[in-house]
Amino acid sequence: MNTEPTIAENRSKWAHRCAWLLACATFPLIWVGGLVTTTDAGMAFRDWLTSDGYLMPFYPWFSSAGDKFVEHGHRLLGMTAGLLSIALVLVTWRTEPRSWVRKFSLVILAGVILQGVIGGMRVVLDQRTLALIHGCTGPLFFALCAAMVVFTSRWWQSVSVEVETDSRRKVLRLSILCVAMAYAQLVVGAVVRHSPYMLSETAGALFQSAVYLHVLLALLIVGHVLLLAWRCFRNRLQVAAGIGLVALVAVQLSLGLGTWLVKYGLPNWATTMFGEMAFVNREADFLQATIITSHVAVGSLIFVATLVIALRFARQLGLGVVFLSVSPSLMTEVAR
Ligand code: HEM
Ligand code: HEM
Repeated sequence: MNTEPTIAENRSKWAHRCAWLLACATFPLIWVGGLVTTTDAGMAFRDWLTSDGYLMPFYPWFSSAGDKFVEHGHRLLGMTAGLLSIALVLVTWRTEPRSWVRKFSLVILAGVILQGVIGGMRVVLDQRTLALIHGCTGPLFFALCAAMVVFTSRWWQSVSVEVETDSRRKVLRLSILCVAMAYAQLVVGAVVRHSPYMLSETAGALFQSAVYLHVLLALLIVGHVLLLAWRCFRNRLQVAAGIGLVALVAVQLSLGLGTWLVKYGLPNWATTMFGEMAFVNREADFLQATIITSHVAVGSLIFVATLVIALRFARQLGLGVVFLSVSPSLMTEVAR
């Protein structure tokens, strides 16, 4: 009888746990980052790496309030993500047998540093455009963390490759298209969110085109995600993930409509029928801030969910498209 441990038994469970911890810490970080923007608390402090002159952990956070409480909370969560990324690198380099996974943990560490620096520069230079960029790179960091969870999972290392058929290849292509559309939607959403605060002459036109594009992309995403879920079902591949993604998009549409209503009220044609809404854009309204911020955070979650599905398809169908085009030898390693 063969008593050699299989790859799945040999894998580093600690790297997987650490990756989960980091991904789970990153979601609230994105949520609170979104809250910073929603409540316009981005410039609560004028300094960075310090907060009002205090080094990050020593700022009297519990006795602060309002904007400073929210913004420093985001900084503390960012610091936690940084520490967890360092732990991930240490654990991965000690326990993970695959060298490409070890290198990937370094990419995550570089990602968190870069994200922190962009956030800090947004404050130091008081730059709205940097806030927009920081809002778009945050979900990319979240995506790296989620990819690490997938790469270190037992499933990745033990799944048997399915027979490749035309229909299955189409599912993979469709899932990659969904990733691209979800990210494009996030960038356009960030323009909708930040352009009203920009001082340039083109800000108005930029806002208007971004709104139209955001609605158009929302329709395209709904169509493609429904198709993806149907194809998952027909091919008996990742059926639960497909259904979960449809549910997330349904929640996101309701949050998107809610966001529009609480920020901008009813469109002109509707006010003639229903009258003006009395509750639009109330300062510091907790429910309104929660709806808007949840729309931002669920947008990131949809992007990361589509990426996880695409990565798992690529693995399941033995088609490491990205790796294959970059380096066939790396592909052989990834297949482990
Ligand atoms: C990995 C670490 C971090 C992640 C993933 C992250 C993510 C985010 C996200 C998603 C937003 C929302 C942007 C939007 O709604 O458009 C945000 C806002 C913000 N973040 Fe971070 N952040 C991180 C670290 C930091 C750090 C270290 C700072 C240091 C000051 C910082 C400063 C800010 C500021 C000032 C805003 C508000 C920007 C505005 O005025 O709208 N972030 N962050
Ligand atoms: C699949 C559908 C959708 C996705 C994935 C999505 C995603 C997002 C994301 C990620 C953001 C924030 C970007 C950032 O700041 O970093 C955003 C902003 C926004 N979205 Fe959507 N969205 C969707 C549908 C909709 C719909 C149907 C509406 C309503 C008409 C809508 C209205 C808005 C508005 C008004 C903002 C700006 C919020 C603000 O100014 O604070 N979204 N969207």
